[in-house]
Amino acid sequence: MIKRTLRAGTSSGLLALAVCAALHSPPSLAARDAQAILKETCQGCHTPEAEGGLSRISHQRKTPEGWLMSIARMQIMHGVQIGDDDRRTLVKYLADTQGLAPSETEGVRYALERRLNTVETFDVQTSQMCGRCHSGARVALQRRPAQEWERLVHFHLGQWPSLEYQALSRDRDWFDLARKEMVPLLAKRYPLDNPAWAKWLASAPKAEALVGDWSFSGHLPGKGELAGVMSVAADGNDSFKVGIKGQYADGSPFNGEGSAILYSGYEWRGNVSIDGVPLRQVFAAQGNALQGRMFEAEHDERGLDFIAAKQGSSRLLAVQPGYLKAGSEAEVTLIGSGLSGTPSFGKGVQVVDVIEQGANRIKVRLKAAADARPGLRNVTVGSLNGATLAVYSQIAEVKVVPEFSVARVGDGGSSTPKVQGRFDAEAWGKGADGKPYRIGVFPAQWKVEPFDERAREDEDVKFAGQMQADSGVFIPGDAGPNPQRKMSTNNAGNLKVIAAVDDAGKSLTGEGQLIVTVQRWNNPPIP
Ligand code: HEC
Ligand code: HEC
Repeated sequence: MIKRTLRAGTSSGLLALAVCAALHSPPSLAARDAQAILKETCQGCHTPEAEGGLSRISHQRKTPEGWLMSIARMQIMHGVQIGDDDRRTLVKYLADTQGLAPSETEGVRYALERRLNTVETFDVQTSQMCGRCHSGARVALQRRPAQEWERLVHFHLGQWPSLEYQALSRDRDWFDLARKEMVPLLAKRYPLDNPAWAKWLASAPKAEALVGDWSFSGHLPGKGELAGVMSVAADGNDSFKVGIKGQYADGSPFNGEGSAILYSGYEWRGNVSIDGVPLRQVFAAQGNALQGRMFEAEHDERGLDFIAAKQGSSRLLAVQPGYLKAGSEAEVTLIGSGLSGTPSFGKGVQVVDVIEQGANRIKVRLKAAADARPGLRNVTVGSLNGATLAVYSQIAEVKVVPEFSVARVGDGGSSTPKVQGRFDAEAWGKGADGKPYRIGVFPAQWKVEPFDERAREDEDVKFAGQMQADSGVFIPGDAGPNPQRKMSTNNAGNLKVIAAVDDAGKSLTGEGQLIVTVQRWNNPPIP
């Protein structure tokens, strides 16, 4: 099997890259009405239909990123002239009236959250027919009737006729298969008419429901766990002002502020600056929870998993750290909102001391009996649950996460920054039932080795970049030809990533694979 991640891909990128930032900020107050823009800017080519519709445009539903990409294509390929303000208004309007229901994005949010090392799992035909150029998620994040899927196939072949000669096309009749097999499949799997969307439109809470303080918990690979409070104030037209105050597990603080906008009643897109670094937020708002990923605008590989609970609601979000060794004592912090009472960790784990008690965090000192049963246990605070604590007596296995990933050369006088590799070492235990369970992320010592003989011969370890031994952060080499390498090739490489975790004096290792490759020249909002 050829392993590939979302980092491979083709698209009409540069404008799309520039417009992606636009998605995260609201239209200005002088914004024009969406209907007027559709009429003046789109109707020239898209024919009016019954009930105020426009050909093509009115028969598709997609995410804000999806609409942004379609409009960007109108600009790049069809010469459409549209200002930034008008485009923002249109994306907002289309995502609100022809968006996806929360359930329709389930399982493919990784593409919106820019988790570009995700190895996708689609059926073989979809992967080969469609997922060889871009993510399968780009397909799964759209809803169309058969006719619109068919037009999309025509558009592909018309726009990129050479696709028929490429690998995974020249061995088959791509066009025929796309029309006869893919179109019916896609229309069935991703239909325009889905009761979930109508239901969501009728029941979605107003944006104002998100105003207030949110207690959040997160995990940043290379840095660890973090928590804090995000304050959200209304700023008109489904947009917000945002303030962030948090701290890392080691106690060091971070602060930030910015703005956010809500699409389709739940798609939260924020732009915040934290200690001077611009970050994007891609969250889904669901009731009293906000969940997704926050990442650096210039380096989307540097990001954290984020989950928040609205203050005033009661919810247990996380236990940090989420593990405890049998026969040992440790401090753990519970993060959530509306927390009250003494937490309970199940048989064999005792709360020795309550160090701090607040509605957003409870810090306790725990003691696990030497014979405490290994495995995951549900943690409860009063009537709240939803977080787990892993108790272990020994680590059975160490996994490198992500197991397969891509870093990219950059800088060195080029216009593209390096894309780093960022790794976590996950410890796994073996439960009493013999089944493996995830204990959690452990500190590790990191190194890279040649992945195979070829990599050894080409000295990839020497040229492809540097692994930071303590953090699991890999900094790739400079872009461009390297005269020191065979045939002056660039600093690409194929590396084995090795994490060594210490368990009471015993060292356990885990391995992953890291491909260091060329820049990602095309970087559209949906990979
Ligand atoms: C100059 C002509 C022209 C204008 C103006 C125009 N479009 Fe298009 N549009 C096209 C063509 C040609 C296609 C079919 C080929 C393609 O998908 O790129 C298309 C297709 C589309 C599609 C379907 C894409 C798909 O993936 O199936 C959408 C959505 C769309 N346009 C939106 C818009 C919006 C919104 C506007 C106004 C901001 C607009 N268009 C203005 C020419 C135009
Ligand atoms: C030869 C490479 C290639 C193949 C194969 C391919 N695509 Fe695409 N696809 C593209 C490119 C390039 C774009 C344009 C991206 C842009 O607008 O910037 C695109 C865009 C799209 C879009 C977004 C269109 C819009 O404006 O909303 C969808 C959906 C899509 N493809 C689905 C599919 C499906 C379904 C298949 C398989 C039947 C497929 N693609 C096969 C290259 C490919």
